[in-house]
Amino acid sequence: MSNAVFDTVRTVLAVREFDQRPVAGDVVGRILEAGRLSASSMNKQPWHFVLVREREGLARLGALVRTGPYIAEAAFAVIVAYRRDSRFGVSDASRAIQSMVLTAWGEGVGSNWAGFMGLDGVREWAGIPEGYEVLAVLPFGYPAHQLGRGKKNRLPFGEVVSVERYRASAELS
Ligand SMILES: Cc1cc2nc3c(=O)[nH]c(=O)nc-3n(C[C@H](O)[C@H](O)[C@H](O)COP(=O)(O)O)c2cc1C
Repeated sequence: MSNAVFDTVRTVLAVREFDQRPVAGDVVGRILEAGRLSASSMNKQPWHFVLVREREGLARLGALVRTGPYIAEAAFAVIVAYRRDSRFGVSDASRAIQSMVLTAWGEGVGSNWAGFMGLDGVREWAGIPEGYEVLAVLPFGYPAHQLGRGKKNRLPFGEVVSVERYRASAELS
């Protein structure tokens, strides 16, 4: 039986090279909406998402995020910030990130998670108040190359899954 959600999870890969095709506004809207609709602890939604589309801004983000210079080549990017006073901010914002990445992939749009906190330069550049921490910047765009063909480099199932007790055999019937 086919399961579109599982297939999206199974095939999604980190995309770091983008072609120059623009992404339609309704697709961009669905990606941001997927972030907004994500679940959060006690439904507090302690996040803010900043959409960056201007080339100058994308170039600036590529320079500010040391581990994501390729953001400069993306069609657009989303800065994901969470309120520092939220105990669950990292988990909540991470869940929103996954929603956006999977929704994009479902539309044929590639993306990646770039950076991990300590992105105060990004926060200041985007005018995000000090009460927020920038968790990551997500570049989005159509992939420049076909990737992976559904293959992922992951630990074997039996190494990361146990049944009933830790390290008991993971045979599912
Ligand atoms: C929390 C987190 C932080 C990451 N940070 C970066 C990053 O700063 N730069 C980057 O290029 N990729 C980053 N990645 C992407 C991972 O390196 C990538 O997903 C992983 O190597 C597996 O590759 P795959 O998704 O193509 O299977 C991050 C992923 C996660 C989940």
